[in-house]
Amino acid sequence: MKTIEVVKEKTSSKIQLINKRVLLAKRPKGLPDESTWKLEELPVPELKVGEALIQTEYISLDPAMRGWIRDAKSYLPPVPLGEPMRAAIVGKVIKSKNPNMKVGEYYTGLSSAQQYVVTDGNGLFKIDPNMAPLTTYLSVMGMPGITAYFGLLRIGKPKAGETVLVSGAAGAVGSVVGQIAKIKGCHVIGIAGGKEKCDYIINQLGFDGAIDYKNEDILARLEELCPKGIDVYYDNVGGEILDHALTRLNRNARIVICGAISQYNKKPKGPDNYYMILAARAKMEGFVVIDYFSESATARRDMGQWMMEGKLRSKEYVVEGIENFHEAFLRLFSGKKLGKLVLKVT
Ligand SMILES: NC(=O)c1ccc[n+]([C@@H]2O[C@H](COP(=O)([O-])OP(=O)(O)OC[C@H]3O[C@@H](n4cnc5c(N)ncnc54)[C@H](OP(=O)(O)O)[C@@H]3O)[C@@H](O)[C@H]2O)c1
Repeated sequence: MKTIEVVKEKTSSKIQLINKRVLLAKRPKGLPDESTWKLEELPVPELKVGEALIQTEYISLDPAMRGWIRDAKSYLPPVPLGEPMRAAIVGKVIKSKNPNMKVGEYYTGLSSAQQYVVTDGNGLFKIDPNMAPLTTYLSVMGMPGITAYFGLLRIGKPKAGETVLVSGAAGAVGSVVGQIAKIKGCHVIGIAGGKEKCDYIINQLGFDGAIDYKNEDILARLEELCPKGIDVYYDNVGGEILDHALTRLNRNARIVICGAISQYNKKPKGPDNYYMILAARAKMEGFVVIDYFSESATARRDMGQWMMEGKLRSKEYVVEGIENFHEAFLRLFSGKKLGKLVLKVT
């Protein structure tokens, strides 16, 4: 972040940890620029009884962040101006006055973008760093994986032999959706930007086909790759791709409205072909992963099992340094990353 303003507070004579944190400085219009954020440095406060200090190791960068900084009604309140940016993290307890959180333990959950987090543990849960790489807990074993699992299985309800189409297919959610659909015996087609991503989802993740939406005729390719039509469309991007998918729906198809990343930085436009839902007697349903958090252990158990069996892969794209928060954030929208985007802090 070039235009950051660094706030330094004078500390007392004893050595104190300094916390770098990313604040929301401004509500952006369109694609956020660097002035959206402010990097602040200030001493880590003393812990009160019941609190623990977590040293953040990784911060998750998610398209949902764009929604959280908009001053509009949504499933979570907007991040207040001047406050640390909401973010999922994974980190280690380095000090504790909370009997339930021991020094050396690792935690993950929805928190904020800072090097050190003072917490009472609310919203965080303990993880085992020996079970999987830490970044996996922000990816397949974290919020994106749980989103893919419940969105596909509870809303999409795929049956063996059906055709599942997923957009944002090389991203954190889409890559898991496609792999679970394969595990369930479906014919799976992914939509992604560029040859490298299309090759990746076919050759590494086992998709049956891929459409490069940046370089190919989407409609022609849908006809070719989904000859029997589409039974489940898992939509991560909205816009033109959603419109094209609607033209190939089978009777009683299910459309999972998970996200609309193509619309997040502009005034959103609805699908022109919405009446295809009528003709197909299809169902289009939105969902929010937080409604399933109480059941996340089920998703983690199944996905952990599939990972051990080699049926499910997790891939993370790591950018280093909290100072690079903005540069990393932009990659969500430029597509300059493969897999789950995370920021390495320590
Ligand atoms: N409902 C929920 O509870 C929930 C929870 C988590 C995520 N989500 C949503 O799910 C979607 C995927 O999230 P994610 O975590 O998988 O993010 P991600 O890892 O950043 O993946 C999103 C993918 O979308 C593609 N993309 C970006 N701009 C695009 C555009 N204009 N048109 C088409 N594709 C575009 C990018 O790849 P390309 O290079 O292929 O363009 C990127 O890989 C997002 O819309 C997010 O908001 C919803």
